[in-house]
Amino acid sequence: MPDPHRFVNDLDEYAHEKLIERLESRAQVHTFSSLFYKYVERLEMPPSARILEVGCGTGVVLRSLAKRSGFSGQGNGVDHCDSYVEAARRYAAQENVDGYLEFKIGDAHRLDFDDGEFDLVICHTVMSHVTEPVKILEEMSRVTKKGGTIAIFDGDYASLTYAFPDHSFGQKMDTALASTTFNNPRIMRDLPRLLPQFELELTDAWGDAVVEIGQASYFKTFAETYAPYVKSSGQFSGQAVDIWLKEQKKAMQNGTFFAACNYYTYLSRKF
Ligand SMILES: C[S@@+](CC[C@H](N)C(=O)[O-])C[C@H]1O[C@@H](n2cnc3c(N)ncnc32)[C@H](O)[C@@H]1O
Repeated sequence: MPDPHRFVNDLDEYAHEKLIERLESRAQVHTFSSLFYKYVERLEMPPSARILEVGCGTGVVLRSLAKRSGFSGQGNGVDHCDSYVEAARRYAAQENVDGYLEFKIGDAHRLDFDDGEFDLVICHTVMSHVTEPVKILEEMSRVTKKGGTIAIFDGDYASLTYAFPDHSFGQKMDTALASTTFNNPRIMRDLPRLLPQFELELTDAWGDAVVEIGQASYFKTFAETYAPYVKSSGQFSGQAVDIWLKEQKKAMQNGTFFAACNYYTYLSRKF
């Protein structure tokens, strides 16, 4: 099954738990979360902003915005997975930000909101997973106010790479990880061309690399969470994937680990 987040509703409860753990744990990894804070700092966001997060998962992004000093706005999260939405409500209540946040089940391709409702729409590591990225852009643009902002952040998973002594197999595993985990591994390269088609003016854009050398945190849970999907895709023998995973774990223990991936941020204004 390509892309567990796209087909999350076909997965069982155990798989949901693992994916929820991964969404929450990666948000605690400084190398990764710093990329979110980097664009949040550049957003023109009045304290009373109405915010929508499309594909909100467990709501970690919205919780973080709601905790910002002086925040008096309203954050809405939409996700097509009921387990994620339940988790998002639970975590928001635990962290005392549920008064500012509302989460509902919905499809990002057909947002259940009126035109121009939001000052800010966020799409954080979602474009790579959806069925029709162009439709998501159209919907995000529709629900954004004129002059409002859309922030899109995601990986360019064609650049995802883990070191592996057999370079040829390592490269095949990189490609398999990208194609089984992401429906649109290269979508972030298309945004400069696509945004203007939806009344969105690019106001800022940049790239960062998430790199872990020696120790692993972000790429540890990435490998543990998503290598099993490569296994079940049948592209390689289960044994080959196990050897790859064992080698990654050994490198983490020995301090010889290496993995990297490029991430891009696009800020655009609705005109
Ligand atoms: C990698 S997760 C990111 C979650 C959250 N934005 C974060 O950064 O923690 C991708 C999310 O997109 C959601 N998603 C994928 N396709 C969707 C769709 N068509 N409609 C709504 N949500 C969708 C998944 O359920 C998942 O929560």
